[in-house]
Amino acid sequence: MIGKESEIVRADMIRCTLCDDAPCDRACEIIDPAKILRSIWFKNEQTAAQSLPKENPCTGCTAPCEHDCVRAGEVPVKKLIDRLYSEIRPHCETQIPDDEDLLKCDLCGIPLENPFLLSSSVVASTYDMCARAFEAGWAGVCFKTICSLDIHEASPRFSAITGNDGSIVGFKNIEQLSDHSVAENMEIFRRLKANYPGKFILASIMGQNEKEWGELARLCEENGADAVELNFSCPNMAEGGLGSDIGQVPELVERFTRAAKNACSIPVLAKLTPNVAAMSPAGEAAKRGGADGIAAINTIKSVTGVNIHTFVAAPAVHGHSAVGGYSGNAVKPIALRFISELAQNPELSGMHLSAMGGIETWQDALEFLLLGGGSIQITTAVMQYGYRIIDDLKSGLNLYLKEKGFSGVKDVIGQGLDTLSDTTDTLERDTVLFPKFDTERCIGCGRCRISCDDGGHQAIRLDENRKPVLNGKKCVGCHLCVLVCPERAITPGKKRISR
Ligand SMILES: Cc1cc2nc3c(=O)[nH]c(=O)nc-3n(C[C@H](O)[C@H](O)[C@H](O)COP(=O)(O)O)c2cc1C
Repeated sequence: MIGKESEIVRADMIRCTLCDDAPCDRACEIIDPAKILRSIWFKNEQTAAQSLPKENPCTGCTAPCEHDCVRAGEVPVKKLIDRLYSEIRPHCETQIPDDEDLLKCDLCGIPLENPFLLSSSVVASTYDMCARAFEAGWAGVCFKTICSLDIHEASPRFSAITGNDGSIVGFKNIEQLSDHSVAENMEIFRRLKANYPGKFILASIMGQNEKEWGELARLCEENGADAVELNFSCPNMAEGGLGSDIGQVPELVERFTRAAKNACSIPVLAKLTPNVAAMSPAGEAAKRGGADGIAAINTIKSVTGVNIHTFVAAPAVHGHSAVGGYSGNAVKPIALRFISELAQNPELSGMHLSAMGGIETWQDALEFLLLGGGSIQITTAVMQYGYRIIDDLKSGLNLYLKEKGFSGVKDVIGQGLDTLSDTTDTLERDTVLFPKFDTERCIGCGRCRISCDDGGHQAIRLDENRKPVLNGKKCVGCHLCVLVCPERAITPGKKRISR
């Protein structure tokens, strides 16, 4: 499996905008550079490298792709492709699979052609959007939450925290539910089911009382939904007692789950809120109410920032703002923790876990599967990059499963649970794992020394060539230096028994 090589190739991508109808593609008559660059961005370099022709078409080429780039000359397309040939391809031991059979799995016993669904949100809110997602290769959609409330959204309704390359890392929304009528959404389900019978329709619903939860669940089944997802988790509802207000009260979760379950015969999933200390109480309540599975996580209550001139938090709606739901790659660690908590709870064994929260790449998705997720849902990455991310999600996971010799998605579900503990008290504490410095790769920036001096144990000095030298007596093996090195020149090294 390729590791460090990929990270270094990816670093050259920083100026690529992943354009629509990319000029680099139009400039090249031999390959599809935009697709290759996207695969690098989404950590799928092995597939990219193997899909290139045998002979490097960039050799001797004047690189019109770079010239025509919207950031003229700033993205080293030719160099990136050269590196795929020289640094990635030689390490590719497993051929790209001929089909996607390894990706087949199921959601509560209903077949899925792959584990990837759009999660309930704007990305799955019209017939046309769902149809385009299906055509692009998504196995299913969890449709935007259906309700009978009068929904009237604010503008603007999003704000974001961005990384150094400008991409969205964390995303806040103050959006509520579907603004189509129940009847309009049922018509959409009927058309989707008629035209895409093999795709999975998960109907997200929110009732205001038991009768309405049941009524909505029944209607969704009658109009073609394969399963129902109960929205106990939207943090943005205007009225109290809805959304995440329900998910925080196990008795209500149980009561409304039972109401929906009694009204339909298709599987029912409870979508739970992360705005709690632990998710198990609500999960167990959903099970008592008859739920077949749990979907998590919905967004986390947040304030992404405050304008230092107007003093208004973001997004500012006519001079005011509101706490809203946080999603995107920044929430992945919190989502992974909740999924593992549910998967490790013996009371919940046998329940399907539909996992989400910050998934962008096939590797992110795989991590959720390893911690017990049985299917994967995504919104924010689709809002940022489009339905096209499904290409790399599928091909990256497919190649991984083949490379590792797994017979399908089911084989990896939960494989990471045994070594994960809910508390740190089970960990071995008698060994120090020293860092190892690759002096060839080190560029002498000294970031390791600064962090070790001011955030660690003063165990690193720089020699006359600005290369780090470790004081083994002071080093406690915390690995802060490994994490801050911008060149990935520090890796785990020798062990020493400390006691
Ligand atoms: C703009 C936006 C609208 C959303 N609307 C809904 C919704 O109607 N129902 C729901 O259950 N979750 C909704 N969500 C939450 C997502 O389905 C998902 O649980 C969450 O965003 C975490 O996944 P992500 O990081 O892949 O976006 C919404 C999220 C966003 C960003």
